[in-house]
Amino acid sequence: MNRHLLSGADLSHADALLVLDTAEELAQLADRPIKKLPTLRGRTVVNLFFEDSTRTRISFEAAAKRLSADVINFSAKGSSVSKGESLKDTALTLEAMGADAVVVRHHASGAPHRLAHSGWIRGSVVNAGDGTHEHPTQALLDAFTMRRRLNGDRPLGTDLTGRRVTIVGDVLHSRVARSNVLLLHTLGAEVTLVAPPTLLPVGIDAWPCTTSYDLDGELAKSDVVMMLRVQRERMTTEGGGFFPSAREYSRRYGLDRRRVAVLPDHAIVMHPGPMNRGMEIAAEVADSARSTIVEQVTNGVSVRMAVLYLLLSGSTEITEVTA
Ligand code: CP
Repeated sequence: MNRHLLSGADLSHADALLVLDTAEELAQLADRPIKKLPTLRGRTVVNLFFEDSTRTRISFEAAAKRLSADVINFSAKGSSVSKGESLKDTALTLEAMGADAVVVRHHASGAPHRLAHSGWIRGSVVNAGDGTHEHPTQALLDAFTMRRRLNGDRPLGTDLTGRRVTIVGDVLHSRVARSNVLLLHTLGAEVTLVAPPTLLPVGIDAWPCTTSYDLDGELAKSDVVMMLRVQRERMTTEGGGFFPSAREYSRRYGLDRRRVAVLPDHAIVMHPGPMNRGMEIAAEVADSARSTIVEQVTNGVSVRMAVLYLLLSGSTEITEVTA
């Protein structure tokens, strides 16, 4: 494994399987009365969040605490960032406090790369979502969830070769889509991105996936349908000129009961959250048995434990889980 995790492309096939298999082992902890390992005792993990988060921030905190690391939670709101402090000075402050790992979410694409390669921080940097760029631990927890649901009771050592994953919606603003495409390609899946032409980024032809504007044409052959949130906060007006209206978007690209009925019986429905219920996904679909949305959140803790463990412990053996 690299020292940092910045992109879904940072992981080789062997690295990705190592993270997923380690997460499987660590997931056993969730069934224990005491959900803690002493593995990262004495290590400090800083959660550096310049942008809002519910799932990622809480699950990184839970993951670090379950590995007995000391956790410092930094939120830009209420910090000296509001007085104009720079990313560099914030990073130097964290370094002075002895951070072994910095988990960073930032509104600027590339901020985690800057932290990792600036020399300001000696520890590992984990990208927890940068602008519209990447969110690699989301891709890992998504792959973990797909593997568990599609590869049966013994997912250890398996990848997603030949699985068809359809990712639908606001690809233009989605760091989840890019990281998923990169990681799923490494794991052997065939990814199709479905979106209106206005919500596909320039340069998409170079991504290792295919694209389509026709959701209905993709459903019957999908093992996974992953719905993306329409990121209205990144659009200047409602729809931002990207689509005529929320209703029109929903009609063309929303996942409702009628569309779910076309999916193969084994197919699953995913969403990274937070959701716009009733827009990209109908509430009854989000709450259905095919939906893995709550499972994805649960799996996020095990996957982030695995990432922190592998980056910080320098070991790939978790003897404490099975002892
Ligand atoms: N999926 C995800 O990144 O959610 P949060 O923004 O709540 O962390």
